[in-house]
Amino acid sequence: MALRRGAQQGVSKALLLSSALQGTEVSAANQVSRASLRCISSSVAPSAADYSYEPPGTSHCFVPGPVNIHEKTRRAMMVPGQNHRDPWFSPFFSKLLEDVRLIFGTSNAQTFIYPATGTGGWESGLQNTLSPGDKVLTWRYGQFSHLWVDMMERLGLEVQVIDADWGAGVDEVKLAEILKADTEKKIKAVAVVHNETTTGVTSDVGKIRETMDGESHPALLLVDGVSSIGGLNFEFDKWKVDVAITGSQKALSLPTGLCVLAVSDKALEAHKTAKMPRVYFAWQDMLNNYPGGQVPYTPIIPLLHGLRASLDLLSSEGFDNVVKRHHRLAEGTRKAAEAWGLKLLCKDPRWRSDSLTVIEVPEGVDSSLIVKNAFARYNLSLGVGLSKVAGKVFRIGHLGNNDEIMIASAICGAEMSMLDAGMKIQPGSGIGAALKYWQETSSIIPTRAAP
Ligand SMILES: Cc1ncc(COP(=O)(O)O)c(C=O)c1O
Repeated sequence: MALRRGAQQGVSKALLLSSALQGTEVSAANQVSRASLRCISSSVAPSAADYSYEPPGTSHCFVPGPVNIHEKTRRAMMVPGQNHRDPWFSPFFSKLLEDVRLIFGTSNAQTFIYPATGTGGWESGLQNTLSPGDKVLTWRYGQFSHLWVDMMERLGLEVQVIDADWGAGVDEVKLAEILKADTEKKIKAVAVVHNETTTGVTSDVGKIRETMDGESHPALLLVDGVSSIGGLNFEFDKWKVDVAITGSQKALSLPTGLCVLAVSDKALEAHKTAKMPRVYFAWQDMLNNYPGGQVPYTPIIPLLHGLRASLDLLSSEGFDNVVKRHHRLAEGTRKAAEAWGLKLLCKDPRWRSDSLTVIEVPEGVDSSLIVKNAFARYNLSLGVGLSKVAGKVFRIGHLGNNDEIMIASAICGAEMSMLDAGMKIQPGSGIGAALKYWQETSSIIPTRAAP
């Protein structure tokens, strides 16, 4: 009853506001139409919002991280306080370090699991392999690659940045030219963001490796796979990646709080002579503890249980199937965007991301209004446009624990929110195109009988 009252109070607050904006009498609030609520300006809505009321149904989270968490994983994390010095922990943690290799595509790389976010993973990769003043070659084509550059500079590295359009990925021809010109092999590392989460672009790490090998360049290959690893194909061994980084709130479908690294023998060797100061992220402290199944400081045990559950789910699905599922969900979302008559920010199909779709809105439409409508009306979280593309794009995340019907809900909500924002799209067009594609390409879930 209390909740119900709260809900009514929340609604009437919105109605009051809406009426005030339109100069209508407060007493007429009950007659304010749904359409007039659309006029609530973005500048007033947040201060008037009352989040004490929990809407029925479920909250629909389709940002490109944090993502949906599987019920089994959520339950696995509901544990009482546990002591990591008790004997169960060592075999449990050692097995996690081994099994997490699955998502990186490696059979024997050293893995590290830190209580940190993806940003910590960046820091760990740089600090442990490089010395101040070392030269790093990198690309900037979105907010995350920009932030990694910023970190490199703040850590005292000499950074050669290739600025590309937001919506483009790593151009291997340019990479070859730069590496060829580096006759003294001053470049110590090539660092790339595999999946740029601001733009929906996935660069081709395999081709980057081929290009480096083609120029016989010895630089380390450092890859931010924060929004790709665990969902998209990643071949650490085949691509001879030296450091790969991911974060738990992305394709691993866990809450934020773990960053996981895979590290090659070459990077471990470089670590022995690298001089950048490091404390929290020092690989050596981990390496001293790992043989005994221990860690140098208190681990986030519930998240480790979640990681166990997540890895079990991914391996029971089969990692190839995980990658295929991500592709199918992405294809359906792209078909929806096409049917809406909208363009993707990523123009070259070879770079289109299977983790998220970044959709441009027409001139004159503020994409942040679509995102706000989605949350305010449909309990749906979509990704806003960040930085340079703020107001110009919105993002639908389809990485992690999702299926067709879940992504269909995101597409439905996006479609309604675009209509709310006044966009001229045909209702049902996007979701119709996505459903057609998914239905035509569907298959029986393993272990379930065909009808
Ligand atoms: C590609 C990429 N790299 C790095 C990060 C930073 O990760 P975190 O926010 O977990 O520190 C993000 C976050 O969204 C990301 O998408």
